[in-house]
Amino acid sequence: MTTTHIPRGKYHIWTVGCQMNQADSQRIQTMLDELGWEEASMEQANLVVLNTCSVRSAPEVKAHNQLAHLKRAKEQRSDLLVALMGCMIGNQKTIDDLSKRYPHIDLFMKVEHSDILPHFLEERWTPISGAGCLDVELLPSDEPQELEPIENLLPTFATSTARGKKQTVLPMAITPKPGERIAHYPTKIEPARVSPTAWLPIVLGCNKVCTYCIVPYRRGRERSRPLDELMLEARTLVDKGARELTLLGQTVESYGLDLPEQPDLADLMTSLSEIDGLQRIRFMTSYPRYMTDSMIERMAHLPKVCEHLNIPVQSGDDEMLKRMKRGYTLEEYCERIDRVRELWPSISLSTDIIVGFCGETEEEFQHTLDLIEKIRFDVVHVAAYSVRPGTVASRWEDDVPLQEKKRRLHAVEEVQARIALERNQTSLGQIEEVMIEDLNTTHGRQQWRGRNRTNKLVFFPQPEASTSQRVYQPGDLVSVRIEHVTPWSLQGCAVEL
Ligand code: SAH
Ligand code: F3S
Repeated sequence: MTTTHIPRGKYHIWTVGCQMNQADSQRIQTMLDELGWEEASMEQANLVVLNTCSVRSAPEVKAHNQLAHLKRAKEQRSDLLVALMGCMIGNQKTIDDLSKRYPHIDLFMKVEHSDILPHFLEERWTPISGAGCLDVELLPSDEPQELEPIENLLPTFATSTARGKKQTVLPMAITPKPGERIAHYPTKIEPARVSPTAWLPIVLGCNKVCTYCIVPYRRGRERSRPLDELMLEARTLVDKGARELTLLGQTVESYGLDLPEQPDLADLMTSLSEIDGLQRIRFMTSYPRYMTDSMIERMAHLPKVCEHLNIPVQSGDDEMLKRMKRGYTLEEYCERIDRVRELWPSISLSTDIIVGFCGETEEEFQHTLDLIEKIRFDVVHVAAYSVRPGTVASRWEDDVPLQEKKRRLHAVEEVQARIALERNQTSLGQIEEVMIEDLNTTHGRQQWRGRNRTNKLVFFPQPEASTSQRVYQPGDLVSVRIEHVTPWSLQGCAVEL
């Protein structure tokens, strides 16, 4: 007699890319935890989820390497499932191309459709050969039995491609139906292990089509999540220990435009501010044309909303902005920044810049350096242009040589390092409110690491027991006197006020 007990497997989630991907992976992790699956290394996992990024070619190359590695692993192991999610999944065509190239991918999954996961596991993780399944107990029988050849004793899964068997099971893929506009996000699932800082995706997809960018093709049109759904999720996150929420969207100020009651970003922040235990609200990414004066004024008056804006400009030259199809001129961008600084004087600013985009001349590049000097951002994220097949710009010549892109990238970094240092020096001697994120060990020295309200990294040591009664922990708000600064962080000492 046999009793069958189908075991839960082990999973590994591999994530690259932006905060949105990190948020998505946390939700998938919770789902798998709730299904009773156990986290493991990639080598030990029965389900490997690759959460991919396509914004530049480097993270895509990493995913292709992982897929090649998993192909070899699958040839050795019959109990391995591979799922792909994130930006490498776009429409049916991208899925078809990928599954032709990588027939060992068992599941193509958009986060919006992750409720397919339990069904997928039920179907694919169920052993299909009766004998020798995992956890099958063979009760002793009186009659001596012929031993089964070892091959037959190994579990065989519906996914099996092991030992040269031909794969007969088609990969699963769920793609949005054309015109599907409702934001569907795995809302009842929250990060299993919430840190004091948590991501809250509020708008999925993007309605703009910047000529260099793959995101709209892979993430679809913009869909806002309903306010009450977000409130519910935010409350659960706070109950589980989150103290700071970062609201995510590609052009985050467009939140609510597609919802029946059209709440805007500031309305959402007003509602979120009422949640007890939530200390800070952040948001990204900003788009200058959607940010109204009223929105900024209301945000600036909400004490929990932190004074930081990530507002990508991408280039400091009008012709480049046109080629990028950013939808604003330099003058409009600068006017918006002036207005934001007027209405919200304590604001810190970060931006994204692409260097070496198609046809960028030395003069056009100089205009970007001029803009950086003029605005004096606190942080600049700079990237060398990377052709993304399928975008409008992929039809144009990628004519700035790689060496030149790198030179421009370093030139931006150099100018920005000086500006950031100068800006950070204004914090010297000031007392900043810091939320502790974790304990950091560098060069054998342990220090608390957190961020001030303007999103700058701050390090400080645990005070001597003789001078402080408090033993700090992640999530605590601590007053820190700043004593030393670099372009990238602030360093100080906790003070008890
Ligand atoms: N929604 C954001 C951008 C999302 S993509 C916005 O409004 O700008 C994140 C960043 O990746 C972009 O700001 C851009 O600087 C960079 N990026 C996007 N496509 C790129 C490409 N093809 N090459 C290099 N960098 C790119
Ligand atoms: Fe990409 Fe432009 Fe949207 S950079 S994400 S298409 S705003």
